[in-house]
Amino acid sequence: MTLIKGAVMYGEGDPVDILVEDGQISDIGNLKSDDRTVIDAQGLIALPGFVDLHTHLREPGREDTETVETGSAAAALGGYTAVFAMANTDPVADNPVVVEHVWRRGREVALVDVHPIGAVTVGLKGERLAELGAMARSNANVRIFSDDGMCVADPLIMRRALEYSRGLDVLIAQHAEEPRLTVGAQAHEGETAARLGLAGWPAAAEESIVARDCLLAGHVGARLHVCHVSTAGTADVLRWAKARGTQVSAEVTPHHLLLDDDRLNTYDPVNKVNPPLRAISDTKALREALAEGVIDCVATDHAPHAPQDKDCEWSAARPGMLGLQTALSVVIQTMVQPGLLDWRGVARVMSERPAEIAGLPDHGRPIAVGEPANLVLVDPKATWTVNGAELASLASNTPYEGMEFPGVVKATLLRGKVTARDGKVAR
Ligand code: DOR
Ligand code: ZN
Repeated sequence: MTLIKGAVMYGEGDPVDILVEDGQISDIGNLKSDDRTVIDAQGLIALPGFVDLHTHLREPGREDTETVETGSAAAALGGYTAVFAMANTDPVADNPVVVEHVWRRGREVALVDVHPIGAVTVGLKGERLAELGAMARSNANVRIFSDDGMCVADPLIMRRALEYSRGLDVLIAQHAEEPRLTVGAQAHEGETAARLGLAGWPAAAEESIVARDCLLAGHVGARLHVCHVSTAGTADVLRWAKARGTQVSAEVTPHHLLLDDDRLNTYDPVNKVNPPLRAISDTKALREALAEGVIDCVATDHAPHAPQDKDCEWSAARPGMLGLQTALSVVIQTMVQPGLLDWRGVARVMSERPAEIAGLPDHGRPIAVGEPANLVLVDPKATWTVNGAELASLASNTPYEGMEFPGVVKATLLRGKVTARDGKVAR
């Protein structure tokens, strides 16, 4: 039994006490402490535990950069209670054996619910559909499929994937990048890339695939999820598709909300990511689209990489950056502080919408009696300074090194069990 004393739910109204028993919220109000375990939550905001639809845990294959265990720790410290692990591992998660391994490791570590994402195509090659049904029916109960890192570029394969997904009641999440338009691409196609002599990744390579896939999803009556939306034009396409009734959802990463291609001037590959950091006008449009609901949620695209894959020349560096432990702070800085979202809005974009999109019944729930105690307690007034070496990930490729951020996760609870407290993982 745990008593959370004096938290402000959703940052609204007076502080209340929240009693957690047998994994559920059993009482809310002005409660006596007795001899229960008490979490002093004075000055803290209680939100539903965050859900990340897009995490790279690197297991199996690159356990030198992240494992289910270390990634789960980073997630718990970041306020997450559920994460979806991308399929671009080695071997690829395109079969029941690999997805069941990731799922089982997640259960053993038990810091966060780890849901493996299955590959759409065999080996992420974009040629043949993987056995979506076998993965969906496996113990891992896969509900999202994605070739992330690669685009399902062939329109006929994408159409078939969408058709199967409808029958299986699962979701296809597309990494939207027309590969013919991004051959050799190193940075957002624009002034900065031109000046730095880096081959361009045009916005249209993303927007054309998103438009195509919205049309395909509408045509076959399937749902579609768009990974890491990075351009103003994609937000326009989504606005149009949603207005005409397409069942499409979309995510934006914290780094695309905060950073723009101005960061590239130093040629530091820590800023290399796919899709690339865009123009400042895109950043602004993405914030507005998220506030509006045209972009449904925030997903980290947490992408750990080894030093030898990042501390090298720009063109040889792998794309990707850490995100789990900094996501909330970036959302506070880019969305809450400018008045684009209130704390209810944070709960919506970091917990409720992602849980709904993934079909998770026990996450993103209201903070109410009888609901599962998947919660995060946030100190909205505290600040912290990012130090990559101190993050729980095995890798340390954060673009935010040395930056001071608002908002500190004070505690995370998964089904009533404290998984993180005061910056430490609780086991
Ligand atoms: O920056 C990225 N990193 N984008 C992707 O699509 C893949 C990811 C990775 O796996 O490192
Ligand atoms: Zn991707």
